[in-house]
Amino acid sequence: MASTGVDVTRSNEDEDGLVEQRIKARAVASLPGKEYKLEAETELRIEVRSVSDAKVILLQGKAEIFGCELVSDKVVDMRKRTTCAVFTWHGCTIKIIPESVYAYVSDKTPMQFYVNLHEALEQRRCKAVENNTDGPVTMVIGPTDVGKSTLCRLLLNYAVRLGRLPTFIDLDVGQGIVSIPGTIGALHINRTITVSDGLDDYPSLVFHYGSNTPSTNVKLYMTLVSRLADSLRKYWANLPSRCHNGCIINTCGWITDVGYKIIVDAAETFKVDQIIVLDNERLYNDLMIHFGSNAEIVLAPKSGGVIERAQSTRANARALRIKTYFYGDDNSGYTPHVYELAFSDIQIFKVGGPNLPTSCLPLGMKPEDAALKLINVVPEKSLIHRILAVSAALSTDEDIVQTAVIGFVCVYDVDVNRKILKVLSPSPGALPRHILILSDLSFYDIPS
Ligand SMILES: Nc1ncnc2c1ncn2[C@@H]1O[C@H](COP(=O)(O)OP(=O)(O)O)[C@@H](O)[C@H]1O
Ligand SMILES: [Mg+2]
Repeated sequence: MASTGVDVTRSNEDEDGLVEQRIKARAVASLPGKEYKLEAETELRIEVRSVSDAKVILLQGKAEIFGCELVSDKVVDMRKRTTCAVFTWHGCTIKIIPESVYAYVSDKTPMQFYVNLHEALEQRRCKAVENNTDGPVTMVIGPTDVGKSTLCRLLLNYAVRLGRLPTFIDLDVGQGIVSIPGTIGALHINRTITVSDGLDDYPSLVFHYGSNTPSTNVKLYMTLVSRLADSLRKYWANLPSRCHNGCIINTCGWITDVGYKIIVDAAETFKVDQIIVLDNERLYNDLMIHFGSNAEIVLAPKSGGVIERAQSTRANARALRIKTYFYGDDNSGYTPHVYELAFSDIQIFKVGGPNLPTSCLPLGMKPEDAALKLINVVPEKSLIHRILAVSAALSTDEDIVQTAVIGFVCVYDVDVNRKILKVLSPSPGALPRHILILSDLSFYDIPS
């Protein structure tokens, strides 16, 4: 794909480790597996369904997974119950281990369309550099399971391969990848995102929402979206060299009724100049009418390889994301720390009060004001398994609701008599801050 310029690859490889990796890869490559020879502009769609992981090795030619170039002879680990596509612009040979992994080749891909989207974005970045303005702000929307997150990943990777440093904004509180479910945030992308990347070591800014759907507290969700948009503008204003790179915004798959209003509001808040609508003509038309000439609306095709996930699969993916936060991925060997916090050393809050009728509220208070109310939580046994976000705020004088969070703990036990909360944490020692915000989300995989 020389015409796109993306061939000017910036590899993530650490040169020192490369020789060692290649020796290991050759040993793995000799294991029994299945080889696939791909023609130019085709992709190998791989579904790891079994209980064990799979390995993918590029034996010859050039190929990429969602925009991240494969390094020849280097093993790519695919976790169980994941899917991906190895795409090639010029042809390649791929080996998959074990042989039993389900995979098929397709020559019907929307990659040419997607690379055109990338080219248009790159032209806007060049213009932004020339005119010293902010780069393109692009939002990807569509129903669930149409490949929104995958397209964001592809566009970010293509940008990084040209030496750009785009920002990724994830507004998906259910299946987002910036942090654990129940959050929205920004990642400053400085290297290509691999298929097994946990994304935990990119510079990030995370806000705690506390539920896996925006419908739980729309007012809070929109307040945090607006706060995130402000933070992005400030970040770009302070670091002008970054602003030309623009950002890609991922969204939830809720596109009807209030979900539609949320998307439109978010697009206006971020002042998007382009919205890519995946696979939904009605949504495309509604947005064309709504935005007129204020934003470019593009209807993009969905890849036939995108997997539709059942509710239970989505719930499992959320649980796995939280588990990975505490334990690292399967092969990392990390175990979380368990330590005690005295009730007197911490303050726990919940955001949003019960939906009381206006007649029950103090004079002058509207029902939606309760949505942003900070409510003191008294620790009790019912908190066991619940996630608590650690606020960056130093005191309650700050606006806790709109302050970013710096990490998460999970409640392991509550000893009401000793007034002690036992928590599970990815890092050892005392908490760096003492204000904790209660999430609706729980994590059950706690060691006994
Ligand atoms: N071309 C493809 N071939 C195989 N799997 C794909 C392809 N594109 C996306 N997927 C997989 O489909 C699933 C859903 O895609 P995703 O981008 O998460 O959808 P959405 O964000 O719209 O819900 C993901 O597991 C992703 O890895
Ligand atoms: Mg998604």
